[in-house]
Amino acid sequence: MRIGIVIHSETGNTLQVAERLRQHLQEDGHAVELIRLAADQPKPTPRLPVTLQSVPDVSGMDGLILGAPVWAFALSPVMRAWLEQMKAAPGIAVAIFLTHAMPVRWMGANRAMDQALEACESKGFRVIDTAFVWCWRHPNAGHIRNLSDRFQQRFQHL
Ligand SMILES: Cc1cc2nc3c(=O)[nH]c(=O)nc-3n(C[C@H](O)[C@H](O)[C@H](O)COP(=O)(O)O)c2cc1C
Repeated sequence: MRIGIVIHSETGNTLQVAERLRQHLQEDGHAVELIRLAADQPKPTPRLPVTLQSVPDVSGMDGLILGAPVWAFALSPVMRAWLEQMKAAPGIAVAIFLTHAMPVRWMGANRAMDQALEACESKGFRVIDTAFVWCWRHPNAGHIRNLSDRFQQRFQHL
């Protein structure tokens, strides 16, 4: 399968998880493209609108993984902007993971996931799995293993 991993990452946690996923999916024989979203602003902030440097098109992909940090109790504005502006890809299988620093998910992570799910639904995506990775200094190794195993299985059995 051709799988696109679309991420926003400012400080590298989400990128680290995405790179691990890419490696595992490539070992399974998938063609994986890691697409890193970037804002025009050098320092995007949670509350101000974001202009994207580009709006990557994923219509040629068989499956997608979206990864983003939780910012200010919400989905990162960069991922939100991309989900608003990208061309709808109805029926495409999507797995979502979010990275967060607060140890409990009710401090932003759950709400951010709800926003991601709503945006995916509005684009006609078929969400096949979701996961969280807690990042305290580094992304939690157990969480990465768990999500990586699950996502690998999901894409293997599509
Ligand atoms: C502006 C800002 C707001 C944040 N707000 C939250 C939050 O509400 N809840 C949370 O759990 N983590 C929050 N975090 C922590 C990030 O979600 C976490 O560090 C994430 O892994 C960063 O991902 P990245 O390194 O890929 O940019 C915030 C971080 C930043 C920079």
